[in-house]
Amino acid sequence: MRRLLLLPLLVLAGAAAGGGVVPVAARSAFACAAGGPAATLPFCRRSLPARARARDLVARLTRAEKVRLLVNNAAGVPRLGVAGYEWWSEALHGVSDTGPGVRFGGAFPGATAFPQVICTAASFNATLWELIGQAVSDEGRAMYNGGQAGLTFWSPNVNIFRDPRWGRGQETPGEDPAVAARYAAAYVRGLQQQQPSSGRLKLAACCKHFTAYDLDNWSGTDRFHFNAVVTRQDLEDTFNVPFRSCVVDGRAASVMCSYNQVNGVPTCADAAFLRGTIRRRWGLAGYIVSDCDSVDVFYSDQHYTRTREDAVAATLRAGLDLDCGPFLAQYTESAVAQGKVGDGDIDAAVTNTVTVQMRLGMFDGDPAAQPFGHLGPQHVCTAAHQELAVEAARQGIVLLKNDGRALPLSPATARRAVAVVGPHAEATVAMIGNYAGKPCRYTTPLQGVARYAARAAHQPGCTDVACAGGAQPIAAAVDAARRADATIVVAGLDQKIEAEGLDRASLLLPGRQAELISSVAKASKGPVILVLMSGGPIDIGFAQSDPKIAGILWAGYPGQAGGQAIADVIFGHHNPGST
Ligand SMILES: *[C@@H]1O[C@H](CO)[C@@H](O)[C@H](O)[C@H]1NC(C)=O
Ligand SMILES: *[C@@H]1O[C@H](CO)[C@@H](O)[C@H](O)[C@H]1NC(C)=O
Repeated sequence: MRRLLLLPLLVLAGAAAGGGVVPVAARSAFACAAGGPAATLPFCRRSLPARARARDLVARLTRAEKVRLLVNNAAGVPRLGVAGYEWWSEALHGVSDTGPGVRFGGAFPGATAFPQVICTAASFNATLWELIGQAVSDEGRAMYNGGQAGLTFWSPNVNIFRDPRWGRGQETPGEDPAVAARYAAAYVRGLQQQQPSSGRLKLAACCKHFTAYDLDNWSGTDRFHFNAVVTRQDLEDTFNVPFRSCVVDGRAASVMCSYNQVNGVPTCADAAFLRGTIRRRWGLAGYIVSDCDSVDVFYSDQHYTRTREDAVAATLRAGLDLDCGPFLAQYTESAVAQGKVGDGDIDAAVTNTVTVQMRLGMFDGDPAAQPFGHLGPQHVCTAAHQELAVEAARQGIVLLKNDGRALPLSPATARRAVAVVGPHAEATVAMIGNYAGKPCRYTTPLQGVARYAARAAHQPGCTDVACAGGAQPIAAAVDAARRADATIVVAGLDQKIEAEGLDRASLLLPGRQAELISSVAKASKGPVILVLMSGGPIDIGFAQSDPKIAGILWAGYPGQAGGQAIADVIFGHHNPGST
């Protein structure tokens, strides 16, 4: 997702809806309300199959109305009682306001922020993944009922994390296609809660970004210009495996195509991929959406087609159903006028998206009277969901080193003084990684340790995670370690080091972090435990071979209560070696 050109479209769509800006998603939930302008029409008849209802609605629309349904910020059709709908909501590891479909505030100030996916994946526990999906499903549907979220969530990200430099690897379940495939199916099942007989959905998930995408911006090449050269075998054996599982086993309602090209063809213009692999071979029952501005990117940045209308034709003919971005709303009518696409191409796309809306119950009248209508603010940030977030972090934490059984720290140690140092000692927002929302609350590592230790002294040791330059407060951290009976160093990366749009050039810890860790270890008289927060891998050879560092834990980005989970592992409440 990037630089979405929202403004022009808001104006367009607002005008179409009769003035004002197209409002939150939930307005359309009242389509087909009793007594409304369409209540007696076939598309409002719940007894008909979803696809037949979608066809009936599409057949009633003008071309101008339909092209405004080809984009994420879909315009309303007031004469039929259909309000605008924002398709773009996110829920990678909790309901997130990264897209415009979700808004926190009022009755919904936050949502449970589970660990970033790379951490949860390290549990290798599909039961856990599905339980998280279910919790997020409750919270997402509750926010929809309250008018603060859509029902179409563009999660999970199941790209294979092959290149360790990739800034978005944190969002994925890692580099192993078998694990990623199991993750995709489990999370999607949890999120969608699909009824097997009717196909009815609680939420619609979306597996992204198809395919072979693991570069954002590295040494002069960015994702908008990247051409991944991939053999057919590598696609089959690796890159496409989680997507197949997502569609075939998870029954995801959507797949998103990426910005990059694969073997010279933009994925969003590749008919062999979209119509061939995803729809025909895997049998997608749902819609294919572009990454945000992908169509504009392959026209403007990649110069893949000569005209904008050729780009419209290339993507619709390839099998795209929904454009995240305004491009298709702006240029599809002129593409028809030039004979490059026909009304049949538009109808096919809109029928696919509207069918998913039908399955979500968006044309069944008042959402309060529907199967999930009871979900409200009291179902968000519940004690059970927050406990699941802690449990996910505990299960995701990985034990990398434990010399002389230094871990867990003994209750005797806890009764004395523990120094908690390092740039992540008081981490909050760093713990939830990217594509996060507003968490219910945070438990920082320092707060977590303070629940076990009689005295927890804190020194950051670095002014920030970059830890660059001469003015780093390393000496104060060394001093705290010297005086403590045990030292916990919480270090690692954050979104300033690895992020969307930002790949790493080095796998070492940033700036002077390694110097901080070694200096603290050298001065410490008690055991030293190093805790690392990161999405991508870090070369910690120096710590592995340092005899003064007895224990090393990797915690990924452990979510809103990561500090509690870290302390639970350090003090023996949870054994990271037992599962
Ligand atoms: C998987 O996670 C669930 C939910 O937290 C837990 O009950 C179960 O014990 C876990 N399985 C393993 C093998 O750790
Ligand atoms: C890539 O990074 C460079 C700086 O390293 C920056 O100038 C450029 O805008 C970035 N491009 C994208 C597409 O993020």
